[in-house]
Amino acid sequence: MSSDGPTITSLELEDRRFPPPPEFAAQANATQELYEQAAGDPEAFWLARTKELLTWESEPTQGVDRSNPPFFTWFADGTLNASVQCLDRHLAARGDQVAFHWEGEPADEREAVTYRDLHERVCRLTNGLRERGVGKSDRVAIYLGMIPEIVVAMLACARIGAPHTVIFGGFSPDSVRDRVLDCGVTAMITGDGAWRGGKLVPLKANVDAALEGAPDVHTCVVVRRTGNEIGWVEGRDVWYHELVERQATEAEPEIVDAEHPLYILYTSGSTGKPKGILHTTGGYLTGVAATHRWVFDLKDDDVYWCAADVGWVTGHSYIAYGPLANGATSVLYEGAPGTPDKDRWWEIIARYKVSILYCAPTAIRTFMKWGVEYPQRHDLTSLRLLGSVGEPINPEAWIWYRENIGGGRCPVVDTWWQTETGAIMISPLPGVTTLKPGSATRPLPGITADVVDANGQSVPLGAGGYLVLDEPWPSMLRTLYGDDDRFVATYWSEYEGKYLAGDGCRRDEDGDYWLLGRIDDVMNVSGHRLSTIEIESALVDHPKVAEAAVVGRTDETTGQAIAAFVTLKGHIAGDEALIAELRQHVATKIGAIARPKSIVLTDDLPKTRSGKIMRRLLRDISENRHLGDVTTLANEDVVADIANQAEAARAADKE
Ligand code: PRX
Repeated sequence: MSSDGPTITSLELEDRRFPPPPEFAAQANATQELYEQAAGDPEAFWLARTKELLTWESEPTQGVDRSNPPFFTWFADGTLNASVQCLDRHLAARGDQVAFHWEGEPADEREAVTYRDLHERVCRLTNGLRERGVGKSDRVAIYLGMIPEIVVAMLACARIGAPHTVIFGGFSPDSVRDRVLDCGVTAMITGDGAWRGGKLVPLKANVDAALEGAPDVHTCVVVRRTGNEIGWVEGRDVWYHELVERQATEAEPEIVDAEHPLYILYTSGSTGKPKGILHTTGGYLTGVAATHRWVFDLKDDDVYWCAADVGWVTGHSYIAYGPLANGATSVLYEGAPGTPDKDRWWEIIARYKVSILYCAPTAIRTFMKWGVEYPQRHDLTSLRLLGSVGEPINPEAWIWYRENIGGGRCPVVDTWWQTETGAIMISPLPGVTTLKPGSATRPLPGITADVVDANGQSVPLGAGGYLVLDEPWPSMLRTLYGDDDRFVATYWSEYEGKYLAGDGCRRDEDGDYWLLGRIDDVMNVSGHRLSTIEIESALVDHPKVAEAAVVGRTDETTGQAIAAFVTLKGHIAGDEALIAELRQHVATKIGAIARPKSIVLTDDLPKTRSGKIMRRLLRDISENRHLGDVTTLANEDVVADIANQAEAARAADKE
């Protein structure tokens, strides 16, 4: 938690209510009964769910094992393979059903990938990776754009039992290297490039730079996508199409224990080093399959589209594993929402008759800004349910989404969860819950949450505090890869026996949850988690920078924007060109998503007498708020100067 204390702002009251439409309620997968079944005996409830939702090789008899908290395990005596859950078991009934309607960013690139196709492609790559010596004890990194091969690669790893670590395609070579090294990766799957917003992302060049410092990677499989010139390391690099072409179309799945690691996904924490969130097989698949079915009310004739990137957890759980475990038909879109025009998403929805759309508030706010004429160009009447994820959704955006995309008829499910939780934890059930714009409403059946004060005491309804999950759940993270101590310290040491989510939350008089944002030094920019310290370190890495402090400030479109405050070394004079250079430096070190929106150069940073940077004050300055208590400030005179410059930066933003 942040040293200068949590900032839990209270929320203005929002009193609009939307009960489920009766026709929707009448056909919904999840009913009120689920809550009651789960409340009696959550462990038995989950054991029954996993047997119903998954096809185990050998069925588990155990639910949760609490013998070594917080290292809980689930269904530990069961065995299965994740790719079989997602593919093989569907082949008899759904072999010819489309798993993904893939659409490339450049016009006229489309492909309908059936379950049978996907199975064959996964088997071929499984065999190819095995030929390269990849086995159950290896970890494989995947660094690709949004093409079918990214899902094929994940499932091939799962088939082998080799945990994958997907690295978001927007990350820089340094970020790729950090993850590859931390994870002990020995093989990689990448592409020559990727298309995003009309630009070519040079994936292979980034990998080549990253792997210069990672000699243990013996294999790099390269998908040809953009056809650009690339470097080649003989012996290490192999074309994907050449590797898979010579393979058999069947591959034996490795049957693993329920607790065998399925993947590691890195996410930002409140210290500089990203955390490798470890998910295992049986519990994770149970969580994503159950929540995907309940929250999105999935039916056989649905066309479902989660518009996240596979590189983040939303893509892992609700593009790959959840929908495939449930045998869904999904849309997979490669590119940006504004390419070639601002109606691309709506064109896609009309083309495939998408019935369920799941996206982030930042996208919704962008569409609001662009205007209703874009969705109005297309027939969106196929939609019947809308979802939101990644950050608090403001009531105006929620209402805009419901009215202009959902035609006023579709329930909107605001789903709260995290990379760590693996699956949705707090969300409406669309056929049961009365919706309140801006509230994620209630913990799902089988999930127990609470809002507590600094002493861990439950706060009364109507009050705000810290969100905790007080019982283990099947899709929970098992540890931080290679760092059990940090796992315990980060999530389990604040309150005995409770998982600390790191979010502020208020419960209203009805017991509904309103998420209030992070309570630590983690920012949420466009639904992506970034830590302040990572960006500060990147700034200080620039030869002219002496010290830097970074805070998140409210941004109309991206939720939060990165505001940086920088002190230069010695007598170096700063100017606009240097500010531009510093912003680019961060983008090069971490990735474009981490580029600060504004940088204020200052002779000094506001500090306490003990020398700690007062981020709270910088946050207040950035938000143009009244500066609270400044009595502990050692260097008061710097504040006025910083505030003036921050004001100028905000004004420049609005232009
Ligand atoms: O602060 C919460 C916010 O996103 C954080 C988790 O980020 P990440 O692990 O990257 O996963 C994002 C996708 C699940 C949370 O700690 N968050 C996520 N969903 C919501 C949310 N905040 C408010 N409302 C949500 N629906």
